[in-house]
Amino acid sequence: MNAPAKTEDFVAPGAQTKPAVPDNVYAETVLAVEHFTEHLFRFRMTRPAGFRFRSGEFAMIGLMVGDKPIYRAYSIASPAWDEELEFFSIKVPDGPLTSHLQKIKPGDTVLMRKKPTGTLVLDALTPAKRLYMFSTGTGIAPFASLIRDPETYEKFDEVILTHTCREVAELKYGFDLMEEIRNHEFLAELVGDKLKHYPTVTRDPSFPQQGRITDLIESGKLFTDLGVPPLDPATDRGMICGSTAMLKDTKLLLEKAGLTEGANNKPAEFVIERAFVG
Ligand code: A2P
Repeated sequence: MNAPAKTEDFVAPGAQTKPAVPDNVYAETVLAVEHFTEHLFRFRMTRPAGFRFRSGEFAMIGLMVGDKPIYRAYSIASPAWDEELEFFSIKVPDGPLTSHLQKIKPGDTVLMRKKPTGTLVLDALTPAKRLYMFSTGTGIAPFASLIRDPETYEKFDEVILTHTCREVAELKYGFDLMEEIRNHEFLAELVGDKLKHYPTVTRDPSFPQQGRITDLIESGKLFTDLGVPPLDPATDRGMICGSTAMLKDTKLLLEKAGLTEGANNKPAEFVIERAFVG
């Protein structure tokens, strides 16, 4: 006599190709991919129902590589109100995740752990007049989220986004974001002229604005160019996202100006977070 069939024997056609996804992970669908340079791309994917985050936070993003998932921390570049999720990524040729992630296409599955976190959030800063967002390379990603969030403009009168890259082509994501905001049906009016974009390059003579952000703060050129007074803890707040060396050097300059570092449980005058690299 044949043994009765078990329910798990009845697998829908094609279902075997889908790896099992653990309870603490979402499996989302890629909606769009845009490549900027040999080293940079962005992608958008579906947002799971019930996934909540604060603008500026990061999540663990992953792919199945062989039969194992590989995850890396990625800032969520879309704002908290967006129905989709956006990410801005570097492509590392032999990077454990990005060597695969750079090949994703619409319709593919990307994994995301359920719990977002991070320090580059409005809650970690005390109120003030002006917010500086200092970024290098993919460090612009959390700010791509925050500059598209109305709450940023409720909390600050003026928002200054600095973005420094080696070459002009690497600045394109930032220029596109500014364009998107200017043309957006409700952000355009809400943001108005409160948001200023300050892009610079360090290894490309073809662009007018040159130099590391640290040098531009130290020389005072940043403030002269923007027509604002030098950094002052009474009026200014900062968020920093870039390489370890950039975080360290920029943090020192903010501290020299009298600003103190804050955290989620202890809001203060500036916060820092390492940009994704691997
Ligand atoms: P530079 O070209 O002078 O090194 P990277 O791709 O190496 O992360 O660099 C991204 C940008 O950050 C580059 O423009 C780079 O300038 C700049 N940068 C690197 N290190 C620092 C630092 N310690 N402080 C400020 N900017 C930095």
